[in-house]
Amino acid sequence: MKKFIPIANLDELSETEGKAFRINNLAIALFKAGSDQVFALENSCPHIGAPLDNGLVQDKTLTCLWHGWCFDLETGHSSNCPGIKVQTYTTKIEDNKVWIEI
Ligand code: FES
Repeated sequence: MKKFIPIANLDELSETEGKAFRINNLAIALFKAGSDQVFALENSCPHIGAPLDNGLVQDKTLTCLWHGWCFDLETGHSSNCPGIKVQTYTTKIEDNKVWIEI
């Protein structure tokens, strides 16, 4: 059964770079967009496993630094490799705390 678990404080996240977390044996990358939106993705590129937290983010698109695969932060779908998707997780923000549904 899925439930929300606190994973980070909102003010420890940056809008210019992702940040890696481990929770329940899952590697998660968080990306902050604006003051009230956080995206959570599995922190492993589906190509050959590069950490995605250090990827480049522009207009809610994440680019893996190793070979340039691009992913929509909201859906996890790749925009340049059709049919490829990275796992995404639902998040919510309450009182400066970021929660992730796992
Ligand atoms: S490992 Fe991410 S594009 Fe190759």
